[in-house]
Amino acid sequence: MNHLEDALKQTAGAVTNEIERLIPKGDGLDSRLFEAMDYAVLAGGKRLRPFLVVTSSELFNVSSNSALRVAAAVEMVHTYSLIHDDLPAMDNDDLRRGKPTCHIKFDEATAILAGDSLLTLAFGVLGDEKTHSDAEVRCRLITSLADSAGGPGMVGGQMIDLAAESEDLDIGAITRLQRMKTGELIAFSCVAGAILGKAPDQAYHALHGYAHDLGLAFQITDDLLDTLGNEEDLGKRAGKDADAGKATFVSILGVDRAREQADMLADQAIAHLEMFDDKANLLRDVARFVVERRN
Ligand code: IPE
Ligand code: IPE
Ligand code: MG
Ligand code: MG
Ligand code: MG
Repeated sequence: MNHLEDALKQTAGAVTNEIERLIPKGDGLDSRLFEAMDYAVLAGGKRLRPFLVVTSSELFNVSSNSALRVAAAVEMVHTYSLIHDDLPAMDNDDLRRGKPTCHIKFDEATAILAGDSLLTLAFGVLGDEKTHSDAEVRCRLITSLADSAGGPGMVGGQMIDLAAESEDLDIGAITRLQRMKTGELIAFSCVAGAILGKAPDQAYHALHGYAHDLGLAFQITDDLLDTLGNEEDLGKRAGKDADAGKATFVSILGVDRAREQADMLADQAIAHLEMFDDKANLLRDVARFVVERRN
């Protein structure tokens, strides 16, 4: 196993334990809600966003407790976005992370509530003193995640994504939608370490630049995998974007040029990391992983 794989695996294990600790256990009629939250969030997944939180935190000597709590919060928001993305009203998917989607395993109402509850819990975790002793840092984490996850970010991007099934979007409009629906949460994950470590502005902006390119490279690769990948590797259905008639980088540029764009963006992301020298090697490796992955 190479260094990156090892590090990804280790962070995935640690963040999964943290999430398990943070999700309450119901003991009455509400326990179904917590079962559905556990089911979706503990089902696996690459845990890429937690890895970015933990790795960016290491640049600024942030305590692992703080980093893991923020990593857990981001993964909760990400998992909520997947639960809702899979609902019949959105992508209507029945397979996620190699298992039946939350609304298939439970029911639609429970899936909606499990998503709501993961989202809310994430902000509760960020606001808790255990995440950071400085209230100003906690506030910055909360407002940044709110922007990244909400209307100006992921949710707004999902709104435009629905329009991509019926409207003729050009490459500029698709770029904006991808940056919003996927890039913003990835960007929060990369700057979280700088916020937690009260890093100088220059370091914050370098990480933001890195994330800006990485997020787009990540979603272009997701679209490529939707076209080229298979269900077994992906743990989700393939060919969904074409079936839905969705405009993506792949539908507009074709496979080869979309792949070139993703590779170029990964190189561009890496170029932002110069000021961190060898300390950012894992972030460099993960940029390559993002465009070379098979799921
Ligand atoms: C899938 O995200 C949804 C997108 C934003 C493209 P991931 O590919 O990170 O999914 P998991 O977390 O590994 O399941
Ligand atoms: C979802 O994008 C992005 C989210 C914000 C959840 P997709 O709809 O392409 O993600 P997959 O392919 O279902 O994982
Ligand atoms: Mg979708
Ligand atoms: Mg989807
Ligand atoms: Mg997709």
